[in-house]
Amino acid sequence: MSILLTGGLGYIGSHTAVELLEAGERVVVVDNLSNSKKEVADKIKEIVKGKVDFDKQFSLYIGDVRDEKLLSKIFEKEKIESVVHFAGLKAVGESCKIPLEYYKNNIDSTLVLLDVMKKFDVKNLVFSSSATVYGRAKSMPIYEDFPTSATNPYGKTKLFIENILMDLYESDKTWNIVLLRYFNPIGAHDSGLIGEDPNGIPNNLMPYISRVASGKLECLSIFGNDYPTKDGTGVRDYIHVVDLANGHLCAIKKLRTNCGLKIYNLGTGVGYSVLDIVNAFNEVCGGKVKYKFVERRPGDIDVCYACADKAFKEMGWKAKRDLKNMCQTSYNFEMKNKK
Ligand code: NAD
Ligand code: WQD
Repeated sequence: MSILLTGGLGYIGSHTAVELLEAGERVVVVDNLSNSKKEVADKIKEIVKGKVDFDKQFSLYIGDVRDEKLLSKIFEKEKIESVVHFAGLKAVGESCKIPLEYYKNNIDSTLVLLDVMKKFDVKNLVFSSSATVYGRAKSMPIYEDFPTSATNPYGKTKLFIENILMDLYESDKTWNIVLLRYFNPIGAHDSGLIGEDPNGIPNNLMPYISRVASGKLECLSIFGNDYPTKDGTGVRDYIHVVDLANGHLCAIKKLRTNCGLKIYNLGTGVGYSVLDIVNAFNEVCGGKVKYKFVERRPGDIDVCYACADKAFKEMGWKAKRDLKNMCQTSYNFEMKNKK
């Protein structure tokens, strides 16, 4: 049996593919390359070389999840046991500029996927949700039963999809669905072969810092130093992408217990400020990250961190890697892939 990863060549999907392959699972990827490159599959192969029979354990389909014919072909050909649905557009700012693209891509791909899964009687799904569904939480840490809301089209797609999945489960309790709400994934694989490599100027903190450290960008603008936090800069729950990838292995195991619908935060439970991240990164790279303070970024919140106890209690999952490792692996990936 195989696990289908939609968007499996992307940042989180590629790390999850590696962890699944190394755990002995068979992996099938479908990706339309809208935010990734085909070569990522070669990198995955290189990482698992010698440990895994890659050609037997891995299949790749380049195409869109909204292409029902392609998806049906995949389900006919491969014996799919479970699906991890990563595919989607994810940039908050862009989603405000081209909302229809976000609704079309994220919602339609999910609806087509669910239809095809139903048709082939495959009812085990892990969905990539986000801490963004908590909007402005009333207190910290954030628990899974906190009220949800969304402030931008990207976040709304995540919330709609969560609701679609809840309705589906209410209508048919034979589905097993795990909603994983990721906090802020950063870091890269220890090999330096895969990591986060956004097109153009990065919107997110860690890729921006990495590019300042490698000299591709001049200076980091820190958005606000007047938040009610220990040093005035925004606080987030940064989680290493390899820890996050392992959370998906735990979620797959959870599906196999016929778990019904479950929701888990994937975070560390610790909040770091922007200055904490800059300082930790500077220790790793020898002080190359220059920064200046600028205005707050519209829509940003001051603090956001998870309570991740539920994922530990119910799936035995816990983040292991520290901030230094997150910075070291990000820097290593950046320097190895410096163009
Ligand atoms: P990513 O952009 O690196 O990966 C997404 C992959 O999906 C890309 O390879 C892209 O080419 C592919 N894709 C997009 N639309 C597709 C479609 N219609 N058909 C086939 N392939 C398609 O993003 P990521 O950081 O790996 O995020 C994965 C998932 O996790 C996304 O759903 C994202 O919203 C969610 N998420 C990400 C973060 C984060 O900060 N990275 C945080 C919370 C949630
Ligand atoms: C982190 C901190 C910024 C860039 C986003 C999405 C969220 C989720 C994860 C998908 C904040 C500050 C940033 C910069 C800065 N994605 N910052 N200068 O905004 O917490 O979350 O990614 O679901 O939905 O909103 O992440 O990395 O953009 O910002 O000072 O150049 O870094 O203000 O405090 P964010 P981020």
